[in-house]
Amino acid sequence: MTRSVLLFGQLLDFLSDPGVDGPAAACRHVSDGALWIVDGHIVEHGPRQAVLDRMPTALLANSTRHDYGQRFILPGLVDTHCHYPQATALASPGKTLLDWLEHSIYPAEAALADPAIAAQRADFFLDRLLAHGTTTASVFATVHAHSVDAFMSAAAARKLRMLCGKVMMDRCAHAALRDDMRHCERDCLNLIERWHGRERLRYSVTPRFAPTSSPQQLALAADLLRSRPDLHLQSHLAENQDELAAVARLYPGHHDYLDVYAQHGLLGPRCIYAHGIHLTQREVDELAHTGTALAHCPSSNLFLGSGAFPLQQRSSAGIAIGLGSDVGAGTSFSMLRTLHAAYLVGQLLAAPPSPLQAWYLATLGGARALGLEAFIGNFLPGKEADCVVLDPFALPELAARLEHAEDLADTLFALMLLGDERCVHAVHILGEVQHRA
Ligand code: GUN
Ligand code: ZN
Repeated sequence: MTRSVLLFGQLLDFLSDPGVDGPAAACRHVSDGALWIVDGHIVEHGPRQAVLDRMPTALLANSTRHDYGQRFILPGLVDTHCHYPQATALASPGKTLLDWLEHSIYPAEAALADPAIAAQRADFFLDRLLAHGTTTASVFATVHAHSVDAFMSAAAARKLRMLCGKVMMDRCAHAALRDDMRHCERDCLNLIERWHGRERLRYSVTPRFAPTSSPQQLALAADLLRSRPDLHLQSHLAENQDELAAVARLYPGHHDYLDVYAQHGLLGPRCIYAHGIHLTQREVDELAHTGTALAHCPSSNLFLGSGAFPLQQRSSAGIAIGLGSDVGAGTSFSMLRTLHAAYLVGQLLAAPPSPLQAWYLATLGGARALGLEAFIGNFLPGKEADCVVLDPFALPELAARLEHAEDLADTLFALMLLGDERCVHAVHILGEVQHRA
């Protein structure tokens, strides 16, 4: 039986980067719009009456309707970098990255040695993610293979499009969180076999970062990445000055930090690195020409005092960029709050994201940075119908501000600065309601 769903509201999505193609070509806004979804995929998008007129009468009568009035309907938000085991460690003190990892994060991750805790935390993380309007994420598990099983099972139960991988780390970490070459290879191959390409899930090869992997383990990560089509890779890069010093000490003889990953075959499409704050021009150019993406995690960078990511400079160099909550160094699951932080960091550098660029980053930009734009990111026909319904009138300050909004850009500016998870009215996964405020 065909399942037909109609959503009505203010539709907003992006066909490309408004910073590259200009707002008119990149952004679509339909103030009284309809989205027609069949069997979880977008079929039609446009003004309400025009979409209804194009529908066969039999399906029109048999469609489930959701009328969201003046609320915004956007493609589900994309979090390009986060750690599910850290969901219970938000706001754990730590002066800077390495100290915070050692004292707050490794103990939180060690708790997932117990599969029951991994299952609990995966459920908690995904429920909170959906409550914040995020429908796809690139997610670190822990070093324990069963932590990926727990996450993937929980994501499959909610029919989500998710990337996840077992953290690879064979040195410079607590003994309880280290793996070794033999177990790491066996575990990763089994996990890839079990989860990669199953339903909407894909495996992401996940070396934590250069300091915690031996050269042999980075080479293994590259072999794994190329062992099956469409595998992804996620890691960290140039977040903190002490981290840079550790990389220079542990990997002598390389040009710079990125060169360590490059020499081990870890750059290219579907590879994404979080942060990339402290980079040379050489590294920026190499990221751009290899098609390697960066996850911008502004609330994390502020929390750990890591530095100010030069978004406009990286973006105009041609690097694909997405937004990351970086839970638990980030202080919230919310991509709206993450946009707020991105704006403030951009202001410090006198180059903040424009409102259209911001909402592009949270949707299609994130999908592109993860190499998932064939499936998600906007409302083109054939895409998977994951949507978030945002209610700007849920917050009195935002509602009052919007009474005198000048235009769409001004509305989106206010929504990025004043909005948060309290605006998330509903979330649809493959057309069906998965979360309601
Ligand atoms: N670098 C290596 N591991 C981590 C982590 O868990 N969080 C952040 N923010 N940076 C890292
Ligand atoms: Zn991270």
